[in-house]
Amino acid sequence: MLGACNLEFMFLYGIAAHPVEHSLSPLIHNALFKHFNIDAIYEKFDVDKEDLPEFLNKVRKENIAGLSVSVPNKQEIMKYLDEVDDVALKIGAVNTVINKNGRLFGTNTDYIGALRAVETCHGMFLRGRKILVIGAGGAARAVVYGLKNEGAEIFLTNRTIENAEQLAKDFDVHLVGYENFRNLQIDIIINTTTVGMQGESKNLSPYPAEFFQKDQIVMDIVYKPLMTKFLKDAKEKGCQIITGEKMLIYQALEQFELWTGKKADLDFVKGVLKL
Ligand code: ATR
Repeated sequence: MLGACNLEFMFLYGIAAHPVEHSLSPLIHNALFKHFNIDAIYEKFDVDKEDLPEFLNKVRKENIAGLSVSVPNKQEIMKYLDEVDDVALKIGAVNTVINKNGRLFGTNTDYIGALRAVETCHGMFLRGRKILVIGAGGAARAVVYGLKNEGAEIFLTNRTIENAEQLAKDFDVHLVGYENFRNLQIDIIINTTTVGMQGESKNLSPYPAEFFQKDQIVMDIVYKPLMTKFLKDAKEKGCQIITGEKMLIYQALEQFELWTGKKADLDFVKGVLKL
């Protein structure tokens, strides 16, 4: 049985994360349910790694229809699901769960979010493009997976080079240090680290401003604030920039389509988020 407050809705969805209170996903998905007249509600579930087994029992028992999965659960949740698709296995993370008659199926839409975000720059054709990815965490793995699938050539840099070695091996990308940036003729630069996010690293950038070259395309996945120092520096150097809300929104739209079969567009959600 669902909690009393949810009995009026046919379907319950939600995000399983910790901390969860600042998540924008409920705003996005509840607006989409309303827009498509779907009798469902999307809630926040404050779930830390160690709570996952008990929480997933609740999902099965109460027939919660689907989940978004975020920090710190994207990797940990994989071992408790009934099925995980090849994409999520390769990326090493699940951000979407679909409850199929009590069997929990995990997949990953982050890589599609990243691809669609890059493509907002004039329907970017990625085959053969040289792309520098900064960072080597879970987000970087999803971004690299998507870009490699499109035939891009990936260069990867990370503060701790040892942390990047597994990713470089799994996805066959070139590991590079700062000393190489100038000689690489990079087309696109993507920050996948948390550097620049509201809080203590807000005024920092993971990339030296003097290395940006005019007409490069520069994307950040940080969306709070939208104009990070990384993007400001890039803009000043004459680069085209892609702000971080795009990947967030596109991965959510893909998730929504998997759950409901309904397609919505970026501008609708930007309107909801007042961006
Ligand atoms: P996520 O799953 O969101 O990608 P993560 O797995 O914790 O998060 O990875 C965070 C990434 O941001 C890592 O590449 C990390 O670099 P390290 O491997 O050196 O830890 C990077 N990162 C975090 N803080 C950073 C900082 N202050 N400067 C540079 N890189 C940073």
